[in-house]
Amino acid sequence: MSAETLLAPSLTQRFEAEFAGSRRLFDKAHTLFPNGVTHDLRHLEPFPIYVDRALGAHKWDVDGHELIDYWSGHGSLLLGHSHPEVVAAVQRQVARATHPGACHELEIEWGEWVRKLVPSAEKMRFVSSGTEATLMALRLARIFTNRPRVLKLAGHFHGWHDFVIPGADAPFDGAPVPGIPAEVQSETVIVPPNDIAAVERALASDPLIGCVILEPTGGHFGSVPIGGDFLGALRELTSSLGRLLIFDEVITGFRVHPGGAQGHYGITPDLTTLAKVLAGGLPGGCLAGRADVMAALEFRANKPKMKHPGTFNANPLSAAAGAATLRLVATGEPSRHANRIAQLLRQRLNALFAERRWDWAAYGEFSGFKLLPDYRGARPTSDAFVPYDGDYRQLEAPKARGLVHAFRRGMAIHGVDLPGLGGMTAAAHSEADVERTVTAVAGTIEAVRNER
Ligand SMILES: Cc1ncc(COP(=O)(O)O)c(C=O)c1O
Repeated sequence: MSAETLLAPSLTQRFEAEFAGSRRLFDKAHTLFPNGVTHDLRHLEPFPIYVDRALGAHKWDVDGHELIDYWSGHGSLLLGHSHPEVVAAVQRQVARATHPGACHELEIEWGEWVRKLVPSAEKMRFVSSGTEATLMALRLARIFTNRPRVLKLAGHFHGWHDFVIPGADAPFDGAPVPGIPAEVQSETVIVPPNDIAAVERALASDPLIGCVILEPTGGHFGSVPIGGDFLGALRELTSSLGRLLIFDEVITGFRVHPGGAQGHYGITPDLTTLAKVLAGGLPGGCLAGRADVMAALEFRANKPKMKHPGTFNANPLSAAAGAATLRLVATGEPSRHANRIAQLLRQRLNALFAERRWDWAAYGEFSGFKLLPDYRGARPTSDAFVPYDGDYRQLEAPKARGLVHAFRRGMAIHGVDLPGLGGMTAAAHSEADVERTVTAVAGTIEAVRNER
């Protein structure tokens, strides 16, 4: 640590001094990209961290810091960074063909893994991202049901296309979304999460709704957790009313369980969107589901056909990384380990907050953890704890950006890289990582409190 760093009084000054190499790169990036970044989540004031390389659960920035990583490749790296079997599979393939412009054997191997692991996957089509997968799900649902509208839950994120962005974030007041035509926005019906009566009322009163889409463990990977009871009720309701049920398993797929949330809860949707872990850290997505719904992708006489090109569909590099990843995922060990480590982290953090009498709480399920500052509700008594009794308006309330950025800067100074007030674990995280993270959170909150 430099003398300048030791003398620097504020978190921001320490951050600027310690991450000077990132600052230099950001000064260039700022002239190229809006906010200097290529993804909204990477926006960090006064500048984001530039990472040089990563391995397992750790990454190294351009200034040489080793950071424990809880971005986990935006959730795509359940095995951790550069798992040797994934690296070998991609290296083998990159020398053979990156885009044969043809059908290839690896896409079959990849698809067979999806069918083997995901209960709803009778047929599937590979795409390039989770956003594309939900776009395809909604269009196929319209063709199959002949109803144009989608029902989604407040706070659930399904990518950034026009039909799913409304209601993704608070406030859930139906205000126009910049860039989305009002007539398009009106095709998306939004109800509160975990409220089966609200879903029933909406479906019963609006015959134009053809499908229901949700993140099956809760929006933003469980900000407001959803249990199997709600999923079961939703399954019955949608079946009885002739609407399609779509599980968006872009994050949960292969992560919470080898069979995703549907494998964990034993509830099978009509369609499932997949991405992230599916492609082992490379770009890729997939829509899987009932053969009769997916049939609209086929060339059939006198039947409607959904046009579906896509230059990088089933790209062989993604297929190689995906198949190598799913082979390991199928053992169940990666999700078991990541879930256990996140649970340990949540428990250790809540113990820290109780010991220091800080008004913070940690919660979450599976391999996720979320932190709530200024938390005034009941204290956790078990890992099943959901703050504010699951009140989505409080749990989804926008967090003060200044605090979130200060927290991220503080954690980086303490050797941990987080996408926000929380993150995701991978099979590569260890108990030692958990202990270092708890120490980092303690140091960061102390510093943030001194600055507030
Ligand atoms: C549940 C869910 N659906 C869809 C998406 C969009 O996926 P992509 O970023 O691959 O477009 C995401 C991305 O985070 C997601 O978490």
